[in-house]
Amino acid sequence: MPKNHNQKSTVAPFFTPDWTPENVPHHPEYQDVYFNKNNGQEESHYVYATQNNLPERFAATKNQFIIAELGFGTGLNLFLINDLWQKNAPKNAHLTYISFELNPLDSATIQNALEPWYKKENSEFFTKFLAQYTLKPGWNTYEFPYLTVHLAVGDVADFLPRISEKMKQNQKVSAWLLDGFTPARNPKMWSDTVYKTMGATTAKNGTFATFTAAAAVRNGLAEVGFLVEKTKGYGYKRKMLKGMFNE
Ligand SMILES: C[S@@+](CC[C@H](N)C(=O)[O-])C[C@H]1O[C@@H](n2cnc3c(N)ncnc32)[C@H](O)[C@@H]1O
Repeated sequence: MPKNHNQKSTVAPFFTPDWTPENVPHHPEYQDVYFNKNNGQEESHYVYATQNNLPERFAATKNQFIIAELGFGTGLNLFLINDLWQKNAPKNAHLTYISFELNPLDSATIQNALEPWYKKENSEFFTKFLAQYTLKPGWNTYEFPYLTVHLAVGDVADFLPRISEKMKQNQKVSAWLLDGFTPARNPKMWSDTVYKTMGATTAKNGTFATFTAAAAVRNGLAEVGFLVEKTKGYGYKRKMLKGMFNE
């Protein structure tokens, strides 16, 4: 286990997932995979980047864009979004990426899981991020010239209501990536606390996207002010949800 030389608090315990025959991490408690077995990166791009309209919105960003993700897992969404930000956003704009993770994976597990897309040899950001990736329970912050990553290690029920601590007073979330395990088996990631906090902390015209099409998620988000739409899902998933905050 890596030592965190900069922090006095204890190092967070890392979680050891199972692996599918396709070399995709799988969580035994939730009986679910971290990403699509056929092409996780393509799924991440379709569900989270395309359906939140991120490339176009990054290109139009003047100062600041804030992404919040529920379920950091392997960091696949972060690495993809970093690439899209670097390609599309103006050089002087800043991205804040706030994510939540109860069972953090260690650096070797992340490298193994993302091997098809990100290796130290082909991704400068991947290497730089993993070099900073030491974890303690609670908030962890990783700084890059154009990007700040805040990763809360703990239960989303405890840390999501504290998201405003990581935004300036007048700032709100521009886009949400709802990437918990399937709602039937991971209810804490899809609770009223989550929806209420989203309602209180999303910017006008801010968006969300999620792989699930569950009616409870659609209703929970509609109740706090999102216009929710069902759209085609990725791969074998027929439908997914996306939406815009309209309050
Ligand atoms: C589908 S996986 C996330 C996949 C991730 N975005 C990736 O690309 O690897 C769901 C994640 O939610 C985390 N999780 C589940 N319940 C949680 C909770 N109550 N609070 C915070 N994180 C939780 C799991 O540990 C897991 O890493």
